[in-house]
Amino acid sequence: MEQKISFIGVGPGDPDLLTIKAMKEIKSAEVIFWTDSLIPEKIISLSNKDTEKIKTSSMNLEQIMNMMIDKYKKGKRVIRLHDGDPCLFGAINEQIRVLNKENIKVEVVPGISAFQITAAYHQAELTVPEVTQTIILSRYKGRTGMPERESLKNLAKLKSSLCLYLSARHVSITQKTLLEFYDPLTKVIVGHRVSWDDGWTEIINLKDMEIFSKKKNLIRTTIYIISPALDQLNKTSNLYNPNYQHLFRKI
Ligand SMILES: C[S@@+](CC[C@H](N)C(=O)[O-])C[C@H]1O[C@@H](n2cnc3c(N)ncnc32)[C@H](O)[C@@H]1O
Repeated sequence: MEQKISFIGVGPGDPDLLTIKAMKEIKSAEVIFWTDSLIPEKIISLSNKDTEKIKTSSMNLEQIMNMMIDKYKKGKRVIRLHDGDPCLFGAINEQIRVLNKENIKVEVVPGISAFQITAAYHQAELTVPEVTQTIILSRYKGRTGMPERESLKNLAKLKSSLCLYLSARHVSITQKTLLEFYDPLTKVIVGHRVSWDDGWTEIINLKDMEIFSKKKNLIRTTIYIISPALDQLNKTSNLYNPNYQHLFRKI
């Protein structure tokens, strides 16, 4: 097998939500780098007992990359685990850039993102016809540079399904900004460590988002799904409508 380093999305936490490919990679790895602040031990425990497991949450980029390249050059099968899907706030860019410079082949394996399991727990469709056909995955800006055109205010103007990552610390300003555009009774799913053993989700009204989050002391590993689609069970799409013709069903 050609040597490479694989970046694996391990999903939101529950090992049952791993893809088969992710599971195979975890089982065959000789060295695993993992973000211990966001991935539960349960996932790591699926690896072989001889696999070297390196926690990265207290390391900087240079330390992680030096170690990763060193293990790779020793001929080890190295994988790097990221929570959810690596393309979403995974900071894989800077890691891949360093590996490219070393001519090390890279593979990325997708995973289930936090918004998907949170919606699934509530049997929620976030794209209800005539209500919203758009899902935005974003965050409150915090310390990370964010283009002004993507400010929360601009995103909220669309009144689409809005999934906010990394925003619990900024819940006061988030709620205030959202209330300029969304109805105060818009449903919000709040999820904390969703699919972890101690995780939970709850549906609240937008007007209560701040008070609820503070009462629960939410800071980390929290997602909010704000959506006018969440209380629209009576809306029906055309897809299965007997009068709606499409390629696979003629009237
Ligand atoms: C660095 S971002 C990575 C997101 C990840 N790549 C994904 O696709 O879900 C970490 C943030 O994702 C959200 N998150 C990840 N896993 C979560 C979970 N199990 N429950 C709730 N939120 C989660 C939280 O907002 C957390 O602060």
